[in-house]
Amino acid sequence: MKQKIEKFLKNFSSCFQLVQMYGCQHPEFNKALFETYQSLQAVLSGQRELNLALVGGELTSGDDIFFDLSKRLTILINKFISKGFEKITFSGSVSREELKNFFLFLLDSDSENNNIEDCLKDRGIQNIQLNKIREFSSQGDKQKKISQKDMVKALYSQSVSSLSSSLGDLIQDQSVDMTKFGSVVNNLMEGVGYHYQEILKLSKIKGKDAITFAHLLNVSFLAMHFSKYLGFNNSESREIGLASLFHDIGKLYISSKILKGGKLTDEEFQQIKSHSLLGADILLKFVDKLGELAPVVALEHHLKFDSGGYPKLRFRRQLHLVSMLVSLCDVYDALSQRRSYKNSFPPEQIYKIMKEGRGTQFHPGLFDSFFKFMGAWPNGTVVLLSDGKIGRVVGQNFDNIFAPKVEIVSEPSEEVVDLNKNGTTVKIEKSLNPYKEGKDYCKF
Ligand SMILES: [Fe+2]
Ligand SMILES: [Fe+2]
Repeated sequence: MKQKIEKFLKNFSSCFQLVQMYGCQHPEFNKALFETYQSLQAVLSGQRELNLALVGGELTSGDDIFFDLSKRLTILINKFISKGFEKITFSGSVSREELKNFFLFLLDSDSENNNIEDCLKDRGIQNIQLNKIREFSSQGDKQKKISQKDMVKALYSQSVSSLSSSLGDLIQDQSVDMTKFGSVVNNLMEGVGYHYQEILKLSKIKGKDAITFAHLLNVSFLAMHFSKYLGFNNSESREIGLASLFHDIGKLYISSKILKGGKLTDEEFQQIKSHSLLGADILLKFVDKLGELAPVVALEHHLKFDSGGYPKLRFRRQLHLVSMLVSLCDVYDALSQRRSYKNSFPPEQIYKIMKEGRGTQFHPGLFDSFFKFMGAWPNGTVVLLSDGKIGRVVGQNFDNIFAPKVEIVSEPSEEVVDLNKNGTTVKIEKSLNPYKEGKDYCKF
């Protein structure tokens, strides 16, 4: 029976990812729904009902705990937690229509604050019951926060391994697993409540090429959220996120010895520079699946606003907006990632360095929007204030990127101070390194 339930859970999880990506009209979703319903029927043919419960952040059924599926079910478990329920019962007479409506219920964020029973009834779901076990007391809220943090961590490491295997397949077997790429993009979208500074801390992963994969994920995360800030809709942002995932795919062809840095010969430097053209060349073969944006971004992400950069252009031309957007995210992440090495660049210095390229390397308007979105100190940065207190940036003021909202973390009051408020004389002196003196004040 355990295997049957596992099969159902795997199908259920894939089905949920597909409905998130394509909606309920898409044939891929309907195919997955059919398989999910079949596997649920297989479980229900042996028992009257299927009870699933969330215990300590894991899905369980009776005495069975599905540890092996934990990573795969993260998004689903996260969804259950955010909707506040911990027990699901599928009765024997559940129909396929009810199962489909249940997926739509999971997608519907408006229903999060409403009465669950009413929401299910409104959708004609009678044979799937949900129970809230936990009342969200202050203790409960604390538990919820901790488990969501763990979820984000799990989502990130899941994305790194999924991305590395899918890109490996793409290069070696010339095959594209869109479900895997789609789930990576979804995972990054799920991290929406978190900030780049926190995601950055997750990217200290080890292993061959891991830095490249973490960089691809971070750039994709930034590009998606920046594009949403600019006014792109969800599906456009997903498309931008997907294209960004491949911007450095050409680097995976280049020897890791060269990419590790150190002093490069002219020839090695030329080899690195070839990654944009090489990447575009690979991606052109998969335009039918990955879309046209991916090769365009791979080709143009090192070209500058004034037509400098590489590959060399024969004539000056306007770059694609998404390439210019990705180029900002790319440079920002490359400078931030150096924190893991000897040369650490705090946010204030990254801003200074990048500002030198405003109007030459970067489109000036897009540059300004990017730093309005990020702030000179992005949300999550631990900072030292001019009155000696230590704070964590929790919100930006778009009319002054140097005066964000800061939560005081060096004192028990945890008061939030708006540095842009009239009459405030307190300023940010500098950021504190999250791996050293700022470590104790980081959320992650
Ligand atoms: Fe690149
Ligand atoms: Fe890059």
